[in-house]
Amino acid sequence: MGKFTVLNHPLIQHKLTIIRRKETGSNEFRRIVGEIAGLMTYEITRDLPLQDVEIETPMGKTVQKELAGKKLTIVPILRAGMGMVNGVLEMIPSAKVGVVGMYRDEETLKPVEYFFKVPKDVTERECLVVDPMLATGGSANLAIEALKKRGVTDIKLAVLVAAPEGVKAVQDEHPDVDIYAAALDDKLLPNGYIFPGLGDAGDRIFGTK
Ligand code: PRP
Ligand code: URA
Repeated sequence: MGKFTVLNHPLIQHKLTIIRRKETGSNEFRRIVGEIAGLMTYEITRDLPLQDVEIETPMGKTVQKELAGKKLTIVPILRAGMGMVNGVLEMIPSAKVGVVGMYRDEETLKPVEYFFKVPKDVTERECLVVDPMLATGGSANLAIEALKKRGVTDIKLAVLVAAPEGVKAVQDEHPDVDIYAAALDDKLLPNGYIFPGLGDAGDRIFGTK
């Protein structure tokens, strides 16, 4: 089964509380979603492999470390996942970005794919799927399935707020995918929203309410 990790660094918890508040406006909400995504990236990449490299400083030759291993593709699930992209890019500027468009049918709560565009060399890369909300898990599962169909084998999922139901759904369907969240909330409400959650992440990021 894939690992589920809550990245509950004090800065992450503090910032998450700000965006949970209903009075927080889109401007601040959007900025803080990016900041949390950056802090999460710092934690998620803690175990990245390094290799030795010989360089020359102004003082002479030395052997130092540089990142080894696969390059990263960030895969936001449209729309709300876009809010996390710049935060990840600030930590890993060389990452590429692939986009999966999904929306949740508000009656059936089932996700519908409407767009898919990833870098050509995506199968040689690690993919970090990002979306602020993991509710039923339907959108994340479909996005991961879409990547696997195109041959991607190395996938992680990063969300801000997860419902226990969504974590279980992804672990059941994609046991090879590790999940990282800033918080694990109490439950999913009958209307598909997470409680206590933060409301509709896409609407709050884009100011479309
Ligand atoms: C939200 C959210 C996730 C999805 C989570 O997107 O950003 O993609 O719902 O729900 P699930 O786990 O039950 O699938 P939404 O469909 O509201 O679209 P948006 O990002 O365009 O606002
Ligand atoms: N999507 C959201 O934006 N918020 C939720 O609480 C659940 C799904």
